[in-house]
Amino acid sequence: MQSQLEKLKKETLLAIKSVKDKIDLEELENNILGRKGGELTKIMKGLKDLSVDVKKEIGKLANEVKVAVEEAFISKQIELSQEEWGEQLKKERIDISQPSLPVKDRGHLHPMTVVHRELEELFTSMGFMVLDGPELESDYYNFEALNIPKTSPARDSQDTFFIKDHANWVMRTHTSPVQIRAMQKYGAPLRTVVTGRCFRNEATDGSHEHTFYQMEGLVIDKNISISNLVAVMKELLQGVLKKEVEVRLRPGHFDFVEPGFELDMRCLVCGGEGCGACKHSGWVETLPCGLVHPEVIKAGGLDPKQWTGFAFGLGSMRLCMQKYGIDDIRLLHGGDLRFLKQF
Ligand code: DAH
Repeated sequence: MQSQLEKLKKETLLAIKSVKDKIDLEELENNILGRKGGELTKIMKGLKDLSVDVKKEIGKLANEVKVAVEEAFISKQIELSQEEWGEQLKKERIDISQPSLPVKDRGHLHPMTVVHRELEELFTSMGFMVLDGPELESDYYNFEALNIPKTSPARDSQDTFFIKDHANWVMRTHTSPVQIRAMQKYGAPLRTVVTGRCFRNEATDGSHEHTFYQMEGLVIDKNISISNLVAVMKELLQGVLKKEVEVRLRPGHFDFVEPGFELDMRCLVCGGEGCGACKHSGWVETLPCGLVHPEVIKAGGLDPKQWTGFAFGLGSMRLCMQKYGIDDIRLLHGGDLRFLKQF
């Protein structure tokens, strides 16, 4: 085991040296230090089977290797970032002696920022922590760990932007991967929300964008039921819209919840008559949700016999449209000042 550790250290340090970009570096880090299947992690897990004396000695060496490798990963990351910034600095020379232009208009917060801040405040007041996750996500976290295998039809409706030469990475199609990351990092019990950008290969229209925002919510605890879920959903909608809203709950299928639901609200833009914001149906699909699937709890490193939970994925751009009476989602990213100045 000693020679195995030394070999791993030597090879990893060499590999880190020759890495050229951040994605390769992250992939390498995952292969060595990843919680699931990382080579060093596997060796460290095997330590428990050794006798006490050997464990002491090898454990010490394993820790030294881990520290050395972690430090090398961090230094390489800094080195790569500096290269990136250096390139940028060379391109963007700023003449700091040039007098600035007079400020004519003062800006203000974008309506999406307002909605996200309100949501985050509401959820922190209910004891949730606010987390963040990467927009460039691995296939494992975006799909596999959420019980969406390669053969699942759900992958069709979540076609997204893939990264050239990196088949296992995608621009995340939803904020749900952070469910797994949160469970792995913080364990249970857990209450968290995550707001962030998501991406899909969409033909855009009044209610669809290729780049859009979601807010994911996850609660893991003992004996969580559908009534806990519904109570929090109501609090959410009323907290942001500041009025009573009519909602309906329909069964919905998502691979990572069981049972799953779609919570729709009566369209506030048209009052239920039908418009671009509600696809002319009078109802807006706002809150897909459900009880967390045992496989997902397992992928988060927890025991599904012991822990239960609920999750939801709020389309926060749609909620923003309802709050302000906006009938076309594309206006929110359009950058048209005539639109933005109204808020
Ligand atoms: N991630 C899903 C989507 O973007 C939405 C979703 C559905 C999230 C159900 C959830 C959930 O957390 O429980 O289509």
